[in-house]
Amino acid sequence: EWTVASIVEDQVAAIREQVGDGRAICGLSGGVDSAVAAALVQRAIGDRLTCVFVDHGLLRAGERTQVERDFVAATGVNLVTVDARERFLDALAGVTDPEEKRKIIGREFIRVFEQAARDLKTEDGVDFLVQGTLYPDVVESGGGSGTANIKSHHNVGGLPDDLEFKLVEPLRALFKDEVRRVGLELGLPETIVHRQPFPGPGLAIRIIGEVSEHNLEILRAADSIAREELTVAGLDRDIWQCPVVLLADVRSVGVQGDGRTYGHPVVLRPVSSEDAMTADWTRLPYDVLERISTRITNEVPEVNRVVLDVTSKPPGTIEWE
Ligand code: XMP
Repeated sequence: EWTVASIVEDQVAAIREQVGDGRAICGLSGGVDSAVAAALVQRAIGDRLTCVFVDHGLLRAGERTQVERDFVAATGVNLVTVDARERFLDALAGVTDPEEKRKIIGREFIRVFEQAARDLKTEDGVDFLVQGTLYPDVVESGGGSGTANIKSHHNVGGLPDDLEFKLVEPLRALFKDEVRRVGLELGLPETIVHRQPFPGPGLAIRIIGEVSEHNLEILRAADSIAREELTVAGLDRDIWQCPVVLLADVRSVGVQGDGRTYGHPVVLRPVSSEDAMTADWTRLPYDVLERISTRITNEVPEVNRVVLDVTSKPPGTIEWE
């Protein structure tokens, strides 16, 4: 009989069987899949699991806390946070090309995670790597598994040959909605279980222009207001995601009080979708748009204009980069 409780029970037994009295490492991205995979393995082997969270500095407001406080509170997991913010900012300095940004972030991410994995392997004898691979991923990649090197959530290739891990993939038979139910069964907070998609390269690909600390701060502030108002309006489950994009390379003239401003626009990109392959722009209520616009222009001094993206996918992609 198929119940969420029985899936958890079966997976916990299978993990115990596979890992024995070994140790495991799991990279957390802040997303649903890695969180649920980690929580399952934690349930099975307790503190023989160590989670690694790389803070690349490209996260939205509150996301690091969500992992460090909420996820840890819900699971009691051992967590190592690697603060790599400076490293990523340095590597991204002056870069504006979208694919270049992705390449740099993928490369730096794998280096940082690899170092953490190497340390844990040599110091603690960790030789299992937990991954949140879902059934659709398995089908897509032809189904191979076993002893492999890492495939990070950025899909950027492998760890070196001398750093081989045995893979633990407890979500391999599950679809996304089942993963969410397993997450709830394991006591994970709604904010994690029902998190909307967020790209691995994070806010870097939502800044049209240079990824500086200053631009990140502006975008984080605007994004946080938009998300807050959408949540208050009860729209989180109706929209697939709503990127907020900072046009850092664009300025427009505005007026505030009795002063002229020359600030940056932000774009709201609310989309409805089933699988992100196609998407429609979401007809958000005007009063919600108004609140978001008023608050962003009042509360974020560098932003003097809020615009709405009314393009479907295709022809537009969901993200602007
Ligand atoms: P696009 O912009 O291609 O986005 O319509 C489709 C979905 O994928 C997400 N996305 C990414 N996720 N790394 C990721 O992990 C990326 O480089 C990346 N680019 C886009 C996007 O947020 C949307 O959900």
